[in-house]
Order: sequence, then C-alpha cells, then structure tokens
Amino acid sequence: MPDVTRTQVAVVGGGPAGLLLSHLLQRSGIDSVVVDIRTRREIEEAHRAGILEHDSVRTLVDSGASERVMHEGAQHDGIELAFGGGRHRIDFAGLVGASTRLYPQTEVFVDLADVRERDGGDVRFGVTDVSVHDVETDTPAVRFTDAQGVAQEVRAGVLVGADGSRSACRRAVPEAHRTQYFREYPYAWFGILCEAPPSAEELIYNHSERGFALISQRTESLQRMYFQCDPDTDPEDWSDDRIWEELQTRLQSNGCTLREGPITSRSVLPFRSFVQEPMRHGAMVLAGDAAHTVPPTGAKGLNLAIADVTVLADVLARAVPAGDLGLLDEYTERALARVWKAQYFSYWMTTLLHRPPEASPFDVRRQQGELAALVSSEAGSTFLAEAYCGWPGGR
Ligand code: DHB
Repeated sequence: MPDVTRTQVAVVGGGPAGLLLSHLLQRSGIDSVVVDIRTRREIEEAHRAGILEHDSVRTLVDSGASERVMHEGAQHDGIELAFGGGRHRIDFAGLVGASTRLYPQTEVFVDLADVRERDGGDVRFGVTDVSVHDVETDTPAVRFTDAQGVAQEVRAGVLVGADGSRSACRRAVPEAHRTQYFREYPYAWFGILCEAPPSAEELIYNHSERGFALISQRTESLQRMYFQCDPDTDPEDWSDDRIWEELQTRLQSNGCTLREGPITSRSVLPFRSFVQEPMRHGAMVLAGDAAHTVPPTGAKGLNLAIADVTVLADVLARAVPAGDLGLLDEYTERALARVWKAQYFSYWMTTLLHRPPEASPFDVRRQQGELAALVSSEAGSTFLAEAYCGWPGGR
C-alpha cells in the first residue's frame, strides 16, 4: 500500500508552469503537492528560450516569485528584423509602450524552485512510475515512487497536468473526449551557446536565402544563437568552423558580422504546433506545454505557460473552496483564447522568416516583400510589437 498524502491540488510537472501554479495557489491559501520525474538538477540544465513578455515579468515580480528578473534580466525595447541586405528595428517602446526581458527559462525555474523551498512547498523531484487515476471522479490521484523508492499516492480535489510536451496527463483523457490539432514543419533549429561578447544589443531575427538565423544573448560573455536546419541534422556532424561559417554567411547577407568564440553547447530543436482541446477533463486540467506546443520563433512557449497558470490560479481560488469543478470550464475558455492567438503568431513568425525546403526564388522574394511591408507600415510593426510583447491584460 502506498503512503497517502491528501491535498487540495495535485500538480504533475515541476517545471515553471507547475511551480508557479503552486506558488500562486499558496498565496490564495490553497495547498498543493508537485511531482516531477526529473531531478531539480536535470531541469536546471535544460537550455530553453529566454524572452519574457511584459505581463510574464509582472506576474513573476508582483507574486514575489522573482526579484532577480528585474536586476539580472535585460530589458529589451525592440528587436531587429534583418532581410534583403539591411537591418530594420521594431521599436516596442515607441509603438506599444511595452518591452520584454531577456531572462532564460532556467533562471525562472531556479527562482521558483527556491521560492517553493523557502515557503515550505511540497515539491518532489526525481520520482518514477508516475500514473494518474480517477480523473473522472472528484478525488483524482497521482501515484508514483519517490526518490527514496517508497510508493506514494497524492489524492486531491483537482489534478493539474503540467508535465510538458510529452505529457502523460494529456494521454489520460479518453480519445472520445479530446481533439488534437497538430502541424509539423520541414525544418528545425540548430541552437548553440558560445563564449563570446554580444554581437548586438537586441535580438536579430535574420532572413536569408540560406535560411533563418536568430542572434540572442545570455550574458556579457555567453551568447545564444540559432540557425534553421534540416530536422534530421546530427549536431555532432558540425564542427565549430562550419557552424560559424553558416551563421556568418546568413548574417553577412544583411550587413552584420558576428563576434565568434568557443561553442560550449549544441543541439537541434524540433518544430511543431500542437493543441489539445478542451484543457479540462473531469477533475483534471492541462497547463503549459502539456496542452499546447508552439514552434520557438517568437518565444511564446514559456509565456503561454505563465498565462495559463495565472488564469488557472484565479479560477482555482474560486473553484476549490466552493467545491465547484464546473468553474474549471472557465479556465479552458479563457486559456484557449490566448493559446490560439499565440499559435497564429508563432506560425506566422515562423513561416515569414524560414526558407521552405523547396522554396522557389519567388517564395524568397515574396517573404522579403512581406518583411518590407511590415517594417514600412506603422500598423504592421505595431501588430508585431503587440503580439511579441504579449497581448495585455489577459486579452
Ligand atoms: C530565444 C529563443 C526564441 O525562440 C526567441 O524567439 C527569442 C529568443 C532565446 O533563447 O534567447
């Protein structure tokens, strides 16, 4: 027989979505237990995207989850679009009075894990054999073996699946009760970290005939860059010299030269768009990547997860004390409205900037025309700025 823990909300997944939710719930006086199959160390070492929307920053700061984001995160008041031989700035501050912050997801995770520990949150990393049960009743449960090898059961009033893009909770919804929307792309990103000074103050989204490249930053001495590649690429086939030559060629076509340094990490990131609807089944709800995945262009993944759990915490603060699971439908409705806007935006940024494998010269020139139309129009630039910084006020 497993050891049984009773709580109000059981959360599967201790990444940023699961930890932020349990933090927000505690502020509303609601208890939760969080479990994750990964160790804290494994989550900390995963390289993920680095851009936080305006409201994501506000949520982290106002809830007391992170002060560091204000001191150590760099404020970005715009991005550059490089194409057709030149560079063009999109001025977020001037167009929509908003900004983003460069603060990598791993730092968000560290802050949240520290705050949960400080506040006595029940978070169990490094568990195995996770399974969810009784989600169609009002006492759903998660069973697992803890890091010490002891069988455990957490029984709750609501179960939250925040267990990422390979979610087991998502699969616990019977096929007849869910719709999955799915799209694959014929390219991926080759991502590197390199020890070099920044090549630019802001992010450069670079369109070229050889394919897309993105120049981002991490610190004064560590940089993050990506370039479009074939999904079957083996990162070990690429020497440092070959990577730099490819990046430089793509950037130099728009008059930009990168500062090089030793490459300390390399990986290939898959591209897909995915949504599972509804985001509620019985006493279980899905949040973050468990419910939806976006391609990385525009860095919406973490921001959507933060937006999901902000709405979810608000709904649970009413549903849990009232014992009214019917209120969970409000979560699905409010979250999906934003999810589909972000799906559209991520798809649009992706297809605007990437070279399809069979692209004709017409396709490439048409993309340049679209980019030129965008940067020369205040309406077009404002659309991009608003979506990139995040639609305000939960809209
Ligand atoms: C980063 C990743 C993105 O997908 C993006 O659009 C911008 C920045 C990053 O890792 O820094």
